[in-house]
Amino acid sequence: MTGTAAALDGKRAVVTGTASGIGEAIARAFLSAGARVLAVDLPQSNVGDVYADHAGAVPMAQDITEAAAPDAIAARASEALGGLDILVNNAGIAHGGSIETTTDALWDRVMGVNVTAMFKITRAALPLLKESGAGRIINLGSIMSDMGGPELFVYGTSKHAVAGMTKSMAVDLGRYGITANYLQPGAVVTALSAPFFEDEAFRTYWVEKAPVGRLGVPTDVAAAALFLAGDDAGFISGVGLNVDGGAIVKF
Ligand SMILES: NC(=O)c1ccc[n+]([C@@H]2O[C@H](COP(=O)([O-])OP(=O)(O)OC[C@H]3O[C@@H](n4cnc5c(N)ncnc54)[C@H](O)[C@@H]3O)[C@@H](O)[C@H]2O)c1
Repeated sequence: MTGTAAALDGKRAVVTGTASGIGEAIARAFLSAGARVLAVDLPQSNVGDVYADHAGAVPMAQDITEAAAPDAIAARASEALGGLDILVNNAGIAHGGSIETTTDALWDRVMGVNVTAMFKITRAALPLLKESGAGRIINLGSIMSDMGGPELFVYGTSKHAVAGMTKSMAVDLGRYGITANYLQPGAVVTALSAPFFEDEAFRTYWVEKAPVGRLGVPTDVAAAALFLAGDDAGFISGVGLNVDGGAIVKF
């Protein structure tokens, strides 16, 4: 991240799902770039310890699917950061299953984290983002925002919803100087994806599918988030940015 050290100086950010993986990498990149970050993750996570070394981080133990979560997150951002410039809706879960095996409970669980919480947290944060004058919303989609995948029925559905929701946010919120974009990671090794990559054939498939010839790491995605969060990205809105080593464009 050399050369971008002060890119977010004075900015105030909320990032969800920051105890591990891509969310942690985004929060750390923002902190290194001078932002203060409200770092949200589940009460049973170790989010309080992850940022013990960072004065600019405010950890918040909160399940984002709880009814009180959106207002609680906005209130904490206001109180601890004095406002909000950047919202990263990163927290997400993935569970396997086809349309035939997906139960109502699984559907509600995945859509609850990946879609409904994203909508409600963003809605609650809007007064603060409007005050910012240059608000940034960055949502975590996936390459599965553009395609289906075997045994990933509800996950794929949820990530397509992220694409549609983000484009609608961009249209509704541009008048307030707010941009909304979504990131589309490919195969990135994290706690969420590790069980899938234990299958050697699956791992090899994704290494070979990416023209750059490797799996992604969380900092690959954080670099894209840092760019979209910055002042220079103010004319980019409604876009899905693939961070996949080129995998999706190769058949
Ligand atoms: N890893 C990949 O290959 C990949 C690919 C495409 C998209 N994504 C997306 O990137 C995002 C981050 O995924 P990751 O791979 O870093 O996963 P991860 O499991 O490492 O991290 C997700 C974090 O979200 C938190 N979280 C889950 N449910 C929550 C809830 N209800 N309330 C608060 N926090 C909650 C978890 O505790 C965890 O710390 C997700 O939206 C995921 O769908 C990941």
